[in-house]
Amino acid sequence: MTAEIGKDISKCTQILEQGDVVAIPTETVYGLAANAFNVKAVSKIFEVKNRPSFDPLIVHLSSIDSIDDLCIDIPDVFYQLYKSFCPGPITFILKKDKKVPDLISSGHDTVGIRFPNHSLTRELIEKSGFPLAAPSANPFGYVSPTSAQHVANQLGGKIPYILDGGTCKVGLESTIIDLSKGNLEVLRLGGLALEDIEDALGYPIQKIKTSSSNPNAPGMLSSHYSPGKKVVFGNFDYSLDQWKEKKVGVITFQHKLSSIPQEQQWVLSPKGDLNEAAQNLFKSLRETDKTDLDVILAEEFPNEGLGRAINDRLKRASSK
Ligand code: TXA
Ligand code: MG
Repeated sequence: MTAEIGKDISKCTQILEQGDVVAIPTETVYGLAANAFNVKAVSKIFEVKNRPSFDPLIVHLSSIDSIDDLCIDIPDVFYQLYKSFCPGPITFILKKDKKVPDLISSGHDTVGIRFPNHSLTRELIEKSGFPLAAPSANPFGYVSPTSAQHVANQLGGKIPYILDGGTCKVGLESTIIDLSKGNLEVLRLGGLALEDIEDALGYPIQKIKTSSSNPNAPGMLSSHYSPGKKVVFGNFDYSLDQWKEKKVGVITFQHKLSSIPQEQQWVLSPKGDLNEAAQNLFKSLRETDKTDLDVILAEEFPNEGLGRAINDRLKRASSK
C-alpha cells in the first residue's frame, strides 16, 4: 500500500466508514484517525503505530454538543477552559461514559477529549458523524509528524490516505489537563502555554505531573519523542568540550555557534519567538536524522510559554 496524499474529505469519510484509518492534520501535529466507536478500526491504529495497548488514545470532536455521549460528571472548569481555548491545543481528561470503547481508554475510567483547530479535520469529523480517536501519526516512541510528508515517510506504506492540511501551526502536541480527579492536574506540557491557562483560570496551577513515572500517561515515558540520533540537552560549554572528537550538530533558539560548521546547526527562531521555535522543533529533529552527525547538542530554551514544552521534548529526546 502507498498512501495517497490529498485534500479529499469525502474519500476520507468513506475510508473511515469502512473501518480503516486516515492521517489527519491538526494545529498541533498530524494524527492517525479512526471511528472512535468502531473497535476494529481503533485496533488498526495500535497496529499501524506499533503502539502498546496500555497507552490510551485521545478522542477528537468538532463540537461540544457530543461531549455528553462520551463523558460523565463533567466539572464546570471544563466549560470555562473550553470557552477560552477551544478549538485549540488542549486535551481534557474526563470521566468516560461506558459507550467509549475500553480499547481507547486502555481500561481506565477516563477518556482524553480534544477539539482540534484545523478546518479540514473539523469538516471531516462533522461529515463523518462520529468522533475520531487519534494518536500522533508516528511509529510509537518517535517524534510526532508536523507535515503530510513526515507521515508519508514513516507510515505511508501502511495507511490508505493522508489528508494534507499543510504544516502544523503549533508544532507540539496538545497540553493535557486531567479534570477527572476533582482538581486540575497537568499531565503533559504542550502547545498551549500554562501561563495562558492560568490567566483564564485566574489562579496558579498547583499540580504539574509530567514525570516519566506516570503510568496514567505512558506517552510521558522519558524515552518518548526520540529521533534516531543521540541528543544531549543542556549546557553547551561543557558539552562541546566533551564531544570535540565527534561530528556535532546543534539545535539552538536564536543564534548559531561560531565553533561549529554552520550547516550542522538548526536555529529554531532567529527572532526569538518561542511559538516559532515550537513550530520548527520536530522538523529539525527529523532533519538531524538524515545527516551523518554523531551527536546533536540541544540548548535549553527559556522556561516560559511554549519554551517549557520545548525543553520537555528535548529532555525526553535526550534520554535513551
Ligand atoms: O496534539 C495532540 O494531542 C495530538 C493530536 C493528533 O491531537 N495527539 C497526541 O496523541 O499527541 P498521542 O496519543 O500521541 O498522545 C496522547 C497522550 C498519551 O501520552 C496518552 O497516554 C495520554 O495522552 N492519554 C490519552 N488518554 C488518556 C487518559 N484517559 N488518561 C491519561 N492520559 C491519557
Ligand atoms: Mg504521540
